[in-house]
Formats: sequence, structure tokens, C-alpha cells
Amino acid sequence: MTSTHAFWLAGRQATGETAFDVTSPWDGRVVGAVSVPTDAQVEEAVAAAYAVRDEFAATPAHVRAAALDHVSRRLVERTEEIAQLISAENGKPMKWARGEVGRAVSVFRFASEEARRFNGGEAQRLDTDAGGQGRLAFTRRFPKGVVLGIAPFNFPLNLCAHKVAPAIAAGAPIILKPAPATPLSALILGELLAETELPAGSWSVLPVPNDRMPALVQDERLPVISFTGSEKVGYAIMDSVPRKHCTLELGGNGAAVVLADFASDEGLDRAATRIATFSNYQGGQSCISVQRVIADASVYDRLLPRIVAAVEAQVTGDPSDDATDVGPLVSEDAAKRVESWVDEAVEAGASLLTGGKRDGASYAPTVLADVPADVTISCEEVFGPVLTVQKVNGEEEAFAAVNDSKYGLQAGVFTHDLQTAFRAHRALEVGGVVVGDVPSYRADQMPYGGAKQSGVGREGVRFAMEDYTYERVMVLTGLAL
Ligand code: SIN
Repeated sequence: MTSTHAFWLAGRQATGETAFDVTSPWDGRVVGAVSVPTDAQVEEAVAAAYAVRDEFAATPAHVRAAALDHVSRRLVERTEEIAQLISAENGKPMKWARGEVGRAVSVFRFASEEARRFNGGEAQRLDTDAGGQGRLAFTRRFPKGVVLGIAPFNFPLNLCAHKVAPAIAAGAPIILKPAPATPLSALILGELLAETELPAGSWSVLPVPNDRMPALVQDERLPVISFTGSEKVGYAIMDSVPRKHCTLELGGNGAAVVLADFASDEGLDRAATRIATFSNYQGGQSCISVQRVIADASVYDRLLPRIVAAVEAQVTGDPSDDATDVGPLVSEDAAKRVESWVDEAVEAGASLLTGGKRDGASYAPTVLADVPADVTISCEEVFGPVLTVQKVNGEEEAFAAVNDSKYGLQAGVFTHDLQTAFRAHRALEVGGVVVGDVPSYRADQMPYGGAKQSGVGREGVRFAMEDYTYERVMVLTGLAL
């Protein structure tokens, strides 16, 4: 029998009247039952966050920094246990789950550092015009208000960390809504936050079902929404509250470009290995996993067999096994959707070079070539272990192919040439260009977010803190400057 996990309401544990089961996508076993907050409990959490907002904004930086440090250290201590939980509820292989905990450790550590240096204030002399004689503008940033953080299932801990840690660092209360498929990692985060001295009400973790999300989104006491998830849901949120501040981290169909100057055996081996690993990590369920390989004609014929071999070398199976590279997708429905997109592409003339098979929630690592431009997999985010390979002639055609997408999250460019790197940085309509590697590289302190339909705003601790706050200027008068 599994016990029911309480949720976190204004910093304390609470249970509601109903509960739901969280099951493992690998074997269907119940990993845990989670209590669902009632409407009255959600109201209590929102009211508490709203009430504490001024007190929290004025909390000394060292108090917030100490709390963030504490969470970071406790994540280190509990790494193995939390990684096992991520793996169980999400199906993520242990090697990737451990990596995710390690990243969350860094996110909280970066946030504690940023909390200490943020908002030092900036002075600007105004006597540059006669009307400003004796005046000085002094600018500091203040929280916009309570943040509603809505997290996805694919990084059940770290994408919650990316909502919570910058909010605490900036002094903004947060209501966190984890994904219904993977709430257990977020609830553990609550356990660690509850060990700190943060004011009651400054944080809650509420596993409310998606159909009750619109009420939270509409609540005027929550002026900032930080959402990570699908393009459809993200834009529906933004359209429903056009006057709120929304940060949307949405989809992508990450491209890895391999250019002519990467033609050495060593270069192509490295490109193929990185592409195979990062089209399949987390079963391809990352917004920056490699979905499209765009290869110059001069390297295409030597690169393709290397990619296929490297993809076939990925170890599939039980995510709790340390040797496993690729586990199941989050659900059987997700695997069936991927299957239908691959089948559609093959029926339309694409060549299936490896993979293309589903077993329950698992989908085999798959490589497709000659994929028609108008099939779903060429246009949408697959969010599965599938990559398409396309031949182009030269750098300009390669960059145009990357940009021929409604998405623009990150792109990788395999080149050794500095001039090419700078041209790629200028030409590619994406939030990040990774030179010499796949698009899937994300350091948690760097700005992360999309262009085009991949979203608005930026995460990355300091950048999220800027997003959650606004500049307020104070003009001092009659000064001897
Ligand atoms: C995402 O899927 O958008 C997050 C990717 C990451 O944090 O590595």
C-alpha cells in the first residue's frame, strides 16, 4: 500500500479530500498517491502569498540566500533518493535523473549567489541637462508580485527549480503547480523548502489538475506567470490574460547543423555521437533535443551511417538500470502519438533507417531521411526519440533550413570556423546558438528561451529574476553632485 503524499500550502503540509495515483511509465506500478487541494485550500495559498508579498520583498538578502543554499545542500545529500523518484515517476533513466538533480543543486546555488548581489541599485546623474541640476536618479528592482509557476513533466525537479529559486532570490512569493504526471519531485522540493526560515505563505506547491488551472491563471493576485510546456497551452494562457506578465518556455525542433569543415573522421564521429545521445536523452522529451540534422552534402554520406550506428548503440530499457540510455516516454499515449507521426512520414515517402517500433510507452530510437517538408514530423515538435536527416549545399542553405520552422529555441552548429560561428549567431532565428555541439546544451545560469513560436521571456536564474521584477526609479533632489 502506498501512503498519500500531502501537498504544501503556504509552507505547511496539508491534504485535500481527493487523491490521484502517480504511476511509472515503465511498468505501470503506482509510485505514490498525491492529495489534491480543494478550491478553498488553493484560495488559502493564494491569499497567503498575496498577503506576505511586501514582507517577503523586504526580507534581508542573507535570509533568502541562506534558504536557497540550504535547499542546494540538501539536494546534494538526497541526490540518489530524488533521482530514483524522478526516474520512477517520469521514466527517465537514472543517469539522466542524477544529472537533473545535479543541475537543480546548481540552480539553487546560483540563486543564492544572485540573491546576495541582485538589486544593488544603480545611480544615474541627471545634471546632464540644466533641468536636472542637483538631481540623481537611483534605480532598484522590486518584485512584480506573486509568481504562478507552471512546470512540465520532462524535468520534474529542475524545471520546478527554475521557477522557484529565482522567485525566492528576487523576494517574490510563488505558487508552484507541478505537472500532474510528475508531482512527487516537486513535493520533495517542498520538503526542503519547509526546512528553511522563509516566511509562511511565500511558497506553496499545489498539485491541482490541469482543468483547474484557468482559475489560477485568471487570479489577479498572481500577476506573473512562468509557464513551461506546450505551445498550444502556453499561448492559450497568454491570450487569456493579455495584461499579465507571462514568460513562456515552449516547444522547439532543435536543429544540429554539420558543416563541411567538420569533415575529419574524428569530427564526424563526435558529431554523430553527440547527435545520437541528444536526440534520445530523456526519450527525446526535451525542448532542445536534436530533432533535425542538417548536413552539408560534402559530409552527408559519411555522417549518416555514423549517426545510425550511434543511435543503434543507445541502450534502451528499464530506467532504473544504470546502463540504460533511453527509457519509456511519459505515457503510452505519448508513444502512440510519436508512432503515428513516424508512420505518416514513412507513408509519405520518408526512409526509415532504424527504429520505428513501439512497445507500450517505449519507442525505439529512430532515424528518418528524405522526409517530405509538409508531414507533421517536419513541422511540429516530436518530443520523442526521433531525428530526421536532411542534405543541404553550403552554409547559407543550412541556416535557411534551420530557420524554416515556426520554432526558434536553440540550434547547434558543428564548425571549427570562428567566422562561420559569428555568421550563424547572426543568421539563426533562435534563442541560443551552440557552436561545436548539439542544440541540447543548457547551462542553468545562462539565458534560456525562444524566438518565434518557442516562447517569450528568458529563464536562467538572473534572467528569470529580471523577469519577475521591475525597475523603480527614485529621483533625489538638491544634491551636491
Ligand atoms: C526544456 O525542455 O525546455 C528544458 C531543457 C533543459 O532544461 O535542459
